[in-house]
Amino acid sequence: MARGAQVLLALLCVAAAASAVASGAGVGARKMVGVYELRMGDFSVKVTNFGARVMSIVLPDAKGNLADVILGKDTIAEYVDDEFYFGPITGRIAQRVARGRFVLDGKAYHMYKNDGNNTIHGSHRCTMPNPNGLTCYCVLERSNSLPTVPDSGGGRGFCKSIWTVKEYVAGGDSPYITFYYHSFDGEEGLPGSVDAYVTYRMSSPYTLGVHMNGTALDKATPVNFLLHAYWNLAGHGSGDVLDHTLRLFASRYAVLDEELLPSSGRIEPVAGTLLDFRTPTPIGARIRKVISGRGVGYDTNYIIDGEGMRPVAQVRDGKSGRALELWANQPTMQLYTGNYLNHTKGKDGKVYEKYAGFCLETMGYVDAVNHPEFPSQTLRPGQVYKHDMVFKFSF
Ligand SMILES: *[C@@H]1O[C@H](CO)[C@@H](O)[C@H](O)[C@H]1NC(C)=O
Ligand SMILES: *[C@@H]1O[C@H](CO)[C@@H](O)[C@H](O)[C@H]1NC(C)=O
Ligand SMILES: *[C@@H]1O[C@H](CO)[C@@H](O)[C@H](O)[C@H]1NC(C)=O
Repeated sequence: MARGAQVLLALLCVAAAASAVASGAGVGARKMVGVYELRMGDFSVKVTNFGARVMSIVLPDAKGNLADVILGKDTIAEYVDDEFYFGPITGRIAQRVARGRFVLDGKAYHMYKNDGNNTIHGSHRCTMPNPNGLTCYCVLERSNSLPTVPDSGGGRGFCKSIWTVKEYVAGGDSPYITFYYHSFDGEEGLPGSVDAYVTYRMSSPYTLGVHMNGTALDKATPVNFLLHAYWNLAGHGSGDVLDHTLRLFASRYAVLDEELLPSSGRIEPVAGTLLDFRTPTPIGARIRKVISGRGVGYDTNYIIDGEGMRPVAQVRDGKSGRALELWANQPTMQLYTGNYLNHTKGKDGKVYEKYAGFCLETMGYVDAVNHPEFPSQTLRPGQVYKHDMVFKFSF
């Protein structure tokens, strides 16, 4: 979308929010949705507080040609109905929870099942009201009135929630934006309230940090966030990513069943499998032999070697020469290769087909709430979850 159009979109939002206040809507606080740009020269990032979402990342190549390397949508309105999770932070429990249920401290909790018999990313297709009839959704903050009855269609993930912009510095040596979301007791059927923060911070040279944290305020609760950005280093909508070479710092993976759940609890070596990316290998080299759930392609949970902040993945597009290196402090990473994209409408009139992008979803263990043999993702009141990712780009 043209820059002018985005500024206009942001203005519409402000106007809608202002008129809402003026008309005294009176049904709770309204939050504005906006698009925010961070910029360092020819490196720029656009995010929105609707889902604390990355909308675009523009990078040069060696010849100075710019490309937006993130798949997504042109407008916030289109993200409301997005079922592919283009660019948001997902939570409170990212990835799958078997049967949408778990037991914590002897009590069973039930989440909305939005993925067959299971729950994924704590969210579901959301039909938010659009009281202003604008393309921009300035919706009511519905937190305390949201139904949380088990399996009744209640529940809404972080990715379809409106976050508060806490701080925003658009330029300078280290542009950044911090989003805040208060997840209330009972949201998505989960116990206790959680304060969540996400900061996107740029630094030189061509580095983007994504820093998430969550604090359990009053009850024990599972917390596991992830960034669901789809990358294509040749530029979004430029075709598939099968020629990108991928290296993963992972020598083991969690065995997933046909519902993409780690039901057996087995962790196995990648050596000798189609999943081995310990040496740089084209993403497409073996992809058509990889069956993941009902799709063909990678939807694979790797156990990242080592601990603490460390290298996780290196990806390079030979044609443009653009590369990224991801560092993170999480134990696992789901590699997803856009297996379900199918003539999906994207930004700038582009259409995304299968394998049009890849996701590097660092996180805790999948379905840890149902697997005591995995490291716990449960926070006790006052405990803090910290998830740091750093993307270093080169070309
Ligand atoms: C859900 O579980 C039921 C009962 O076990 C099974 O018959 C059905 O096939 C499952 N649905 C999916 C989509 O896996
Ligand atoms: C979480 O991140 C925010 C934003 O960076 C920060 O202000 C806050 O202190 C952090 N919380 C904790 C408990 O570390
Ligand atoms: C892709 O979408 C088309 C048109 O909606 C549909 O006919 C086809 O079955 C889909 N393919 C897959 C693999 O889902």
